[in-house]
Amino acid sequence: MCGIVGYIGNRDAKEIILDSLQRLEYRGYDSAGIALIDEKNHMVVQKEVGRIDNLRNEVYKYNGEVESQLGIGHTRWATHGRVNEQNAHPHCDSKKRFAIVHNGIIENYQVLRKILTDKGHTFSSETDSEVLVHLIEEFYKEEERNLQSAVVEALKVVEGTYGLAAICIDEPYKIVGARNGSPLVLGIGENEMFIASDVNAIMPYTKNVVYIEDKEVVVIKSEKFKTYTLDYQRIEKSITVVDWDVDAISKGDYETFMLKEIFEQPNAIVDALRGRVHARDGAVKFGGLDLTPEHAKNIDKVIITACGTSWHSALVGKYMIERFAEIPVEVDYASEFRYRNPVLGKNNLVIVISQSGETADTLEALREAKRKGAKVIGITNVIGSTIAKESDGGIYLHAGPEIGVASTKAFLNQLITLAMLAIYIGRLKNMPLYEGERLLEELALIPQKIAEVLEQADKIKEIALKYVHTTNFLYLGRGFNYPIALEGALKLKEISYIHAEGYPAAEMKHGPIALIDENMPVVFIAPKDSLYEKIMSNIEEVKARAGRVIVVTDLDDSVMRQKADDIIYVPSTIEEFSPMINIIPLQLIAYYIARAKELDVDKPRNLAKSVTVE
Ligand code: G6P
Repeated sequence: MCGIVGYIGNRDAKEIILDSLQRLEYRGYDSAGIALIDEKNHMVVQKEVGRIDNLRNEVYKYNGEVESQLGIGHTRWATHGRVNEQNAHPHCDSKKRFAIVHNGIIENYQVLRKILTDKGHTFSSETDSEVLVHLIEEFYKEEERNLQSAVVEALKVVEGTYGLAAICIDEPYKIVGARNGSPLVLGIGENEMFIASDVNAIMPYTKNVVYIEDKEVVVIKSEKFKTYTLDYQRIEKSITVVDWDVDAISKGDYETFMLKEIFEQPNAIVDALRGRVHARDGAVKFGGLDLTPEHAKNIDKVIITACGTSWHSALVGKYMIERFAEIPVEVDYASEFRYRNPVLGKNNLVIVISQSGETADTLEALREAKRKGAKVIGITNVIGSTIAKESDGGIYLHAGPEIGVASTKAFLNQLITLAMLAIYIGRLKNMPLYEGERLLEELALIPQKIAEVLEQADKIKEIALKYVHTTNFLYLGRGFNYPIALEGALKLKEISYIHAEGYPAAEMKHGPIALIDENMPVVFIAPKDSLYEKIMSNIEEVKARAGRVIVVTDLDDSVMRQKADDIIYVPSTIEEFSPMINIIPLQLIAYYIARAKELDVDKPRNLAKSVTVE
């Protein structure tokens, strides 16, 4: 999704901005641009469709000589208006005195555009964002030369969401930023400052950051910053030190971020378990959660809400919480939850799950749950994200930065976190000590078992390569592994653009079976659990219709060997934790197929890492 960066200091602003934009590429974008104020106080703007490398080449071709210590940049993911140079940010007024970059959506832009056009403003893009710069121009008072007040007055008339940064050639020593619903973070260096929509953008430059909150305005100069409300009241902000290291956002020796993140999973899980699991006492401890046994016993329903891959982990979480904590669980797409009338009782617990902690639908679902008086637990990966901050209690995933758009290690850590949470609540209720011990001991073995699956990457690649030219896939699983069928299918769709569907295996006969022929590979997730025999019958049904069968299982069984075209063997664990192991081959299958098709797996077309608009 769109990204914002800005720089003010003594260094070459264009290089820092281009570098920071490159670090935001992972969020997904279709065009990018940069605005600099040069040494003669002229606004220099360059925008390009496509990759940042493209923008970089053009900036150096046409403006390589420009010396500038102040500028803003943007990666755009189109919402209003086509993908072209005019619609890319930064947007300027017609005299090129002001430039803005904006994330979010201005809902009343059509009305405002009409009013501004009638007043003589000429628009050069189809975007909603452009109204902001014309409003700023309109409210700018020549005698005062106060960009901050022009921005604030502009924001008072817009409806919608924004994270923005604005600059003006008449005040070439400041950037004004503001936020409402779209993240913004300030980075503090030595006699230099950074602004970004995502802390990853500025991590090589500073670890000292200030999170700007909704309805706050920040005025940034190279040596200081001040934050205000929209009513010009000063606000004191505290500095947070970010502890992610820069290596975590480089590919290292891996060909892609996604492959690196798949292989990081054993370590990521260890990080999630660290300090929380005390197997000998059968206990789980979370720093940000303080449920008492009374609370836990009173919870009569859990509602988990999320989007995309996080929604799939929520489904596994449902199975786990119902099994370990014996509480009924509903799982809802956040986009549905927020627009229904969810009936929440006073003893309901709402859990929201989001890797980024910024997904607009999930955030609004959280807010709706809180408005209805529910206690909300947020499970997020990004420290200091809006969902983390607005939840009543929170659990961080500790997966480290996830750059690949298709989520892998964050999903695994969601599963492990939900397992811990289910055991935590279970132990506060009726789960006996020996059961807590048994589960936690098994949980501690998962990283090693995942490492064993990863050792088979070459074999999985060989299997995947047989299916590169396939146009459809079906993924089937049952029980705890039904959500894994959904997630396996989603991974394939996201990065290889092959149509894939996930289904509960037993549902196949109610529809998808009509699709089965020799061209339809079916991936079965078939652990040796209580449903193994039933899955075997489903495999027979596919084979009887000449379908091709790929099986992920922990059982070496001669019947299966005869039936399946390809088998991937994985280590055994208990049924409840098997999703954590079974997803690994499915991630790798999707990965190797996409790479064989020479696709950009880290930045799949049309997708964004964090969807901050509805
Ligand atoms: C986007 C991403 C998905 C992700 C979903 C939810 O659609 O492309 O990979 O699962 O958002 O993101 P979240 O950050 O809330 O987990």
